[in-house]
Amino acid sequence: MDLIYELDDLKTDGQSLLVNETLFHNANGYIGIRSNFEEGYPEGIDTIRGAYINAFYDFREIKQAEAFYGFALEKQTMLNVHDTQGITLYLDGEAFSIFTGTLVAAKRTLNMAAGYTERYVHWISPQGKEAEIRIRRLASFVRLPLFLIDYSVTALNFEGPISFVSSHRGDVENYFNPADPRLSQEHFRSLIPKDVVIEGSASFVSSVTSKSALSVCTAVDHILAEEDTGSITTETEGHGTVSHIEGRIKKQGTLTLYKYCIFTDSLRYPLPGAAELELRRAMAEKPAVLYRAQEEYLGRFWEGARIEIEGDKELEKAVAYNLFELIQSAGKDPYSNIAAKGLSGEGYEGHYFWDTEIYMEPFFTLTNPDIAKNLISYRYGILDEARKNARLLGHAGGALFPWRTIMGRECSGYFPAGTAQYHINGDIAWSVVSYYLASGDLPFIAEKGAEIVFECARLWLDVGNYYRGKFRINEVTGPDEYTCLVNNNYYTNASAQYNLRWAVRFWEILKEAGTLEDVRRKISLSPDEIDAFSRAAEDMYLPYDEELGINPQDDSFLSKKKWDLSHTPREEFPLLLHHHPLHLNRYQVCKQADTVLAHFIFEDAQSLETIRNSFLYYENISTHDSSLSTCIYSIVASKLGFREKASRYFGDSANLDLQNLHGNTKDGIHTANMGGVWMAIVYGFAGLRIKEGGIGFTPAIPESWKSCRFKIRYRDSQILAEITGKGAVFTLVSGTPKIINVYGKEYELSDSLTVSRET
Ligand code: BGC
Repeated sequence: MDLIYELDDLKTDGQSLLVNETLFHNANGYIGIRSNFEEGYPEGIDTIRGAYINAFYDFREIKQAEAFYGFALEKQTMLNVHDTQGITLYLDGEAFSIFTGTLVAAKRTLNMAAGYTERYVHWISPQGKEAEIRIRRLASFVRLPLFLIDYSVTALNFEGPISFVSSHRGDVENYFNPADPRLSQEHFRSLIPKDVVIEGSASFVSSVTSKSALSVCTAVDHILAEEDTGSITTETEGHGTVSHIEGRIKKQGTLTLYKYCIFTDSLRYPLPGAAELELRRAMAEKPAVLYRAQEEYLGRFWEGARIEIEGDKELEKAVAYNLFELIQSAGKDPYSNIAAKGLSGEGYEGHYFWDTEIYMEPFFTLTNPDIAKNLISYRYGILDEARKNARLLGHAGGALFPWRTIMGRECSGYFPAGTAQYHINGDIAWSVVSYYLASGDLPFIAEKGAEIVFECARLWLDVGNYYRGKFRINEVTGPDEYTCLVNNNYYTNASAQYNLRWAVRFWEILKEAGTLEDVRRKISLSPDEIDAFSRAAEDMYLPYDEELGINPQDDSFLSKKKWDLSHTPREEFPLLLHHHPLHLNRYQVCKQADTVLAHFIFEDAQSLETIRNSFLYYENISTHDSSLSTCIYSIVASKLGFREKASRYFGDSANLDLQNLHGNTKDGIHTANMGGVWMAIVYGFAGLRIKEGGIGFTPAIPESWKSCRFKIRYRDSQILAEITGKGAVFTLVSGTPKIINVYGKEYELSDSLTVSRET
């Protein structure tokens, strides 16, 4: 499988540069560094120069002109931390910049097998010195604080002195854009300089946050490759340092500089000692050793996560790109989760949303369960904040997870499209159940998972009420943010029903296993409450319209006017940037899959016919302005046998960032969509479902593909699925035999199983 993504990169316009800064960023779940040019840019070229630490935030005011009771007045923003990227190369006094001299060739590469990016430039200086420059960068998966820049220069037609001026800057700020609500909208400065220490050629820069009392310490040092000799001196400059590296280069010779950059923060490390320790440890290893360890880590990742598509190699690579970004973005400690833009940019301010549970966690649950477990542990870690949030919103019991957050408190300033999305509780509960069904890990459910599910279930009881014999949930917002504050959003009610049912199931399962007592006592859960959960689930009102044979999105949705999408000019999309929310709320127009999403994850609630009718109905009024939409349409289209549509929606999702289809990749990748790409293959084309009754597949790949292969973990086994136009072959790669359902029939999978598709 080809895991090299290359771009002939001669474009120097601002937009292309910004998008490439995102696409080629380096991250490992702890740190993320945008792919900015080391040497900087001339005046007038826009850049978002950024380095981020997952969950490293400051508190910032949310300006509410009319601050009603309980409104969020403070948010957390992931900070842009110290800039260690700066390196200017001088060829005998002439500074390298692709904006001067002659750019003969340029290429960017992302090597997803080896885990590094490379910028290659063939350049002739204004005075005629011709050089090849190759800059590799790596965010280490095995040494999370390490970011390495490996900068090598080959002199093609000259020899003599060359030098590097390398910077380590603490005076950084976040990016902002007053015109875009999806970004921070105002200028702010959060990092307060603490100190700068120089030890030999190494430098240590420390800063503290203005309000959250966190600190960051970055360390930088340089080495010239063994065969290269030269001198390195480091001095203070402002709140940072600058190092001068002097060397000589022979004609046709190559000189390589390694810049080791270490990021540490006070959430996870004792500072500043840890920065020094990590720097010494990293530098004690030769770069070749670091590269090898990186490749080995990714070898293990791809062994379980790879998806091969015979018949469309371009698409296969696009899929690999999406999966690679997921492993780059996922937090790997209990402080962090997966931000909506991963660690690639500042869109959505580094916040975690339901994106994790519904769109990304399934990938980890089925390929890398330890990461999924960590994502659930993160939610468990903020359960107390969720309990406080529920009280603030007037609920006597249970927990309400914040719509967007880093450390657990609500960061949404616009509650109708934020806090009111109570479905996040159902989403988190769904992810815990999915993890349980796939892994069978009951001890973890007893320890953490069940408590989350019980507390979320309690909240539904409090927010909903009975009316005319049915349990109803009023005044909430479903996933579609163009329709806010409604009664009985179908998706929300279906997810509440699932959550309540599973609270009852976990009670029964844990009781039977003899592991209920700890959690039951801890949260004083009574059998009466369990009965109430069960009744509310059975009596849940799920709106249905007889005439159209569909599930209305909510009680009032079908009574609204339909937005005239066919006469809306292209430049008016996304609608949220051109229309007042109230105006949008009065129309039947969907930003994203809502009822259609429910038809995927809670599919057993409706007949196939209703699902088909709903799909066709909502398809006509959906803009897919949210990147969380087309992947879901692809999955449900697959379920319904709309194969052409399934492929088309899938293509839009797979290429969303690589082709900047939403026009905002500069602000960061769309991580939820990336998880959705995986789901569209595994749940969509392969038709995987894991339910309490077992595991099943209904494979049907796009007609243009010859085959598709992927692996999943299920219980103690790993299963390889190979799907062709004719059917599928399943192989038990490891673990004990399993019963699997294929096209509605049960088989025992103990070695290899071939099932033909009945057409
Ligand atoms: C979507 C939300 C999503 C958020 C972060 C919004 O545009 O409507 O569903 O959670 O982006 O990705």
